[in-house]
Amino acid sequence: MTAKTETRSDRDTFNTRFVFLMAAIGSAVGLGNIWRFPYVAYENGGGAFLVPYLVALLTAGIPILWFDLSVGHRYRGSVPLAFRRITPSAEALGWFKVGVNFFIAIYYAAIIAWALLYTIKSFNQAWGDDPAAYFMGDFLNVDAEKVISASVVWPILIAMIFVWALCILFLATDINKGIGKLTTFFLPILTVMFLVLVVRALFLDGAIDGLDAFFRPNWSVLSDPSVWIAAYGQIFFSLSVGFGIMITYSSYLKPRTNLTNTGLVTAFANSSFEVLAGIGVFATLGYMAAQSGVAVDEVATGGIGLAFIAFPTIISMMPLGALFGVLFFGSLFLAGVTSLVSIMEVVISAVADKFALDRRKAAVSTGLIMAFFSCLLFSTTSGLVTLDIMDKFVNNMGIVLGAVASLVVVGWVTGRRRELEQHINAVSSVRVGTLWQFLTFVTTPLVLVYFVAREIFSVATEGYEGYAGLQLTLFGWGVLVTIVLFAVALSAMNYRGSNRLDGLDASDYGVPVKGRTKGTPNPLAVS
Ligand code: ALA
Repeated sequence: MTAKTETRSDRDTFNTRFVFLMAAIGSAVGLGNIWRFPYVAYENGGGAFLVPYLVALLTAGIPILWFDLSVGHRYRGSVPLAFRRITPSAEALGWFKVGVNFFIAIYYAAIIAWALLYTIKSFNQAWGDDPAAYFMGDFLNVDAEKVISASVVWPILIAMIFVWALCILFLATDINKGIGKLTTFFLPILTVMFLVLVVRALFLDGAIDGLDAFFRPNWSVLSDPSVWIAAYGQIFFSLSVGFGIMITYSSYLKPRTNLTNTGLVTAFANSSFEVLAGIGVFATLGYMAAQSGVAVDEVATGGIGLAFIAFPTIISMMPLGALFGVLFFGSLFLAGVTSLVSIMEVVISAVADKFALDRRKAAVSTGLIMAFFSCLLFSTTSGLVTLDIMDKFVNNMGIVLGAVASLVVVGWVTGRRRELEQHINAVSSVRVGTLWQFLTFVTTPLVLVYFVAREIFSVATEGYEGYAGLQLTLFGWGVLVTIVLFAVALSAMNYRGSNRLDGLDASDYGVPVKGRTKGTPNPLAVS
C-alpha cells in the first residue's frame, strides 16, 4: 500500500491571486521603503540614483523575484523543504535563510513598536523641543556602554508584546484568514494614509526645495561602485527577494498562476511606493529646512534619525502636526506589520513542514520563541546598539550570502536553470529565456559576491560605528555563526511525518522534472 503523501491539496493555497498580491506587496512595502529608500537615494546622488536603482531593479530585482517565485511554486514547500527537494544537501541553505529571517524579525518588531508609540505620541508631541535628546534619552534610555542591559524600558516592552501578539494571532490561522485578511485590510489603509501624507507634504512651504535636493542629479556618482552596490542592496531588501519570503509565499500559490505577471505587479507597486516615499519625505524635509533657514542637506539625516528625530521635529513645527504625525508613524506601523508577518512566515512554515505541526501550533510556538528573544534584547536600554549591529550583519551580509549561495546551488551545482525557466514559461504570460538565466545566475551572483566581500572586509578591518569588539562579536559575527550552526543541525534531523518530501505533482505544471539528483524524492509522486 502506498503511504499517503502530502499532495498539492494538503498545502494551504491563497484563495485568489489578488490575496497573494496583497500579501506579496504587503511584504515588499515595509520600513525599507518609507524611511530607508529616501535617505539612501539622497546620499547616493539624488535623482541620479534612480539610474542604478532602475538598473538594479531590472537586472537583479525582477529576475531574482521570478527565481524566488518559481522555486517556491515548483517545489511547493517552506524554504528548507523546497531546497531539499532540489537536492537534499541544500536543505541547510534553506535553514540558513530561516535563521536570517528569525533575527530580522526580532529587531524589525522593535522598530514597529517604536512607530506605534510615536503614532500615539504624535497627538501631544510628547518629544518636546528636542526630539533627538528625547528619542535617545527619555524614550529609549540608550546605554551604549552595556553589552546586554537588564534594565527594561516598559513602554517599549508593552508595545513590543502588542506587536508580537497581533502578528502571532494572524499567523496562527490559515493563510487566507490570517495573512490574507491582515494584508487586504492594512494595505489599502496604508496606501490612502500615505497618499494623503504625500499630498499634504507637497503643499508645505519649501517642499519644492526638498524635491529639488532629492531629484537634482549628481551624475558623477555613477562612476562610484558603492552607489551601485547601494542600489542593489536597496532593491533586495525592499523587494523582499533573496530572503526566502517570496519562496515561502509562492509555495501557497495555485498550480496555474502567472508568475512573471505577478512578480511584475509586485515590483511595480513596491517601487511606486518607494519613489512616493522619497517625494513625501523630501518635500517634508524641504519644509523643515525652510522653517529653520538652513539647506536641505543639513536636515536630511539617515536611518533611524530620519524617522524618529527629523519627523518629530517637523511635526512640532507644522500646523495640524498631530494629524501629519499619525499619518507618518501610522504608515510606518502598518507597512512594518505586513512585512513582519511575511518574515515570520518563513520561520513558521519551515518549522511546520519539518516537525509536521499544524499552522496554529507552529505559529504560536515559533512566534513565542521569537517574541521572547526580541523582548529580551530590544526592550532594554542596550536595545538600540544591538539592533544596529544585528541589522548590519544579518541584513547586509546574511541576506546576501544566502542569496548568492542559493543562486549558485540551484543554478550551477544542481543545474536547474533550464528546469526553472521551463517552469516559469509553462505557467506565465511573459516568457523568460537566456537573458533571464544570464542575469539571475551570472551577473547578479557576481555583483552580490563583490558586495558581501566589501562589507565583510570593511567590518573586519575597520569595525562598525566604533562599537566594542565584544558587541560586534556577540550580535554580529556570533549571530552569523549561530545561524550556520543551527542550519547544519536542523538539516541533519529527519523530517517528521511519513513522507513529507514527496507529493510534488509536477505534472500539474506541464513540465516534468529533469535531472533529478540521486536520493531526492520523486517529485512526480502522487498519493
Ligand atoms: N521588504 C521589507 C521592507 O522593505 C522587508 O522593509
